[in-house]
Order: sequence, then structure tokens, then C-alpha cells
Amino acid sequence: MVRETRVSPADLIAPLFVCHGSDRREEIPSLPGQYHLSIDELVIEAAVLHASGVPAVILFGLPDSKDEAALEAYSEDGIVQQALRALRAELPDLILITDVCLCQYTSHGHCGVIVEGEIDNDITLEVLAQVAVSHAAAGADMVAPSDMMDGRVAAIRSALDQEGFSQTGILAYSAKFASAFYGPFREAAHSTPSSGDRRGYQMDPGNAREALREVLLDVDEGADMVMIKPAMPYLDVIARAREATNLPIAAYQVSGEYAMLKAAVAEGLLDERAAVLESLTAIKRAGADLILTYHAGAAARWLS
Ligand code: PBG
Repeated sequence: MVRETRVSPADLIAPLFVCHGSDRREEIPSLPGQYHLSIDELVIEAAVLHASGVPAVILFGLPDSKDEAALEAYSEDGIVQQALRALRAELPDLILITDVCLCQYTSHGHCGVIVEGEIDNDITLEVLAQVAVSHAAAGADMVAPSDMMDGRVAAIRSALDQEGFSQTGILAYSAKFASAFYGPFREAAHSTPSSGDRRGYQMDPGNAREALREVLLDVDEGADMVMIKPAMPYLDVIARAREATNLPIAAYQVSGEYAMLKAAVAEGLLDERAAVLESLTAIKRAGADLILTYHAGAAARWLS
């Protein structure tokens, strides 16, 4: 009765990986219990999640081809665009969020366009805006830029408005740290940079004040929700962001957090249900309203 923090399935957002083809449901080795899904299987998975009370999914695409310009990221027949149309038709009440980034679509695996050996921030903004518009046109309710380029929320907001998508929301990956905990995801999304790392655009794990600056910049640029990522190693940043803005705050319990828990459970070292629910409660207690988590489906079943 006196419990201060409760987690409900309605707080959860499930990340899903969609690939080309049909009848494909391939377990991701680095993320046991998560799958590469072709669109037919994706619709089934999303329907199960939705039926268990999870209101939203965030889509990550595995394109057929990668190139320097990330062409499939904004093509009308890109994998995410096709998936959105199928989900929109089959599950009209499910909230569809898309990850907007180039790293899965570029041959070099970086989140931006490279010009003369360096990521060109402003050219990247134009491409990201095109990606966001193509997702909105295919049925996305919200777009979630995860690239960490400067000025991308404003660029995406103005492109969406210009193209008639003023109702499409922006969930900004505002404080995204250059984290070792993304390792399993990069294996899952085939997005490991072929050279260098992401420290030029993602944030230093030592910087909490800078994280707040990034959050407030995104608020000013027109974000509808802000995100802190990863979640458990950055609970202090979530708590400080909670004080700094009244926008909804999302926290991303990332692939490495999931993989660590799953590995410990597989070794018999942790009780899965208790550990997962405690981790979600802690993230909410720190101040997150919403949690992106690969545990969404299981947690929703345990909570209902
Ligand atoms: C794309 C992106 C990443 C994640 C979400 N969007 C990978 C990265 O930045 O390297 C990580 C998600 C996870 O680890 O679960 N930029």
C-alpha cells in the first residue's frame, strides 16, 4: 500500500529488429530471447506484446544493402518503412516508434555521413530529416533520433512540419553515452563501426552536467520526450534530468544490461523475474516515466 514506485506494462517500450524476407525468426546470439524478424513474424511478435499490455514498440531495421549514403534508411521500400505499413494496417492502436540513425545503413557503420574522413554534422542532419519524414509517411507515431548529431531535433522537427507531419512526435536520445553496454546490440544490428569509435558524437560517461545540457538543448529544439541511455549505470543522470525538465523521460535499458542479466540467469546466479522487475523499478524510481527494454514482453506477463 505504501509502495512509492510501481512498474506497469504501460511504462514499457519493446525494441524489435526487423529484416527482409518472410517466415524468418532467427534468435540473436548476443541477445538470447530476442530475434531478427521478417515482417510477417514481426507483426505476430508485436501483436503478442500489445496483447500483454505493452503500448509501444521501437523498430530497428536490418537493410539488404549498405552504402556510403545510407540510401535504404530513407527509401520508401526500406525495411523499416515496409514494416511500419504492415504494423499500421494490422495493429492500429500500437504506438510505433522508429530509431532514426544511419549506422545500420552505412557501409562504414558510423551514425553520420563521412566527408574527407570526418563525420559531417550538417550534411548528416539533412539525411536524418529525410529518414524521419519517410518513417512518418509510412506510419510512425514518433521518431527517435539516436545519432547524437548537434541540431538534429530542430532539423527533424522543421522537416516533419514542412512535409505535413506536425502530429509526429520526437523522442530524442538526448543523453546517449559512448557506452560499452551497446556491444550486443551492434552484433544484433550489424552496426559496429569498421574503424574508429563513436566517442566523437556520443557522450563521455564521466559527464553528467553535459548530459543535462544535451537534454535541455533537445527540449529547446522541440523534443516531445527525452531519453537517457544506458539506464542502470546512469540512474543519477535520470534523476537529475527529472529535476531539469517536466517533459516525459524515457530510459533505455540497453543490450548490454539485458545480456548481463540473461547471462547471470543462465548461470543460475540470479532469479530472472525478481532481478528484472527490480531493475525496472529502480529505473522508474530514479525518475523515468518510460523504459525501453528487451525484457518488455516477459515483464508485462509477470506484471499482469
Ligand atoms: C544506433 C543505436 C544504438 C543503440 C540504439 N540505437 C547503437 C549505438 O549507438 O552504438 C543501442 C541499443 C542497445 O545497446 O540496446 N545508433
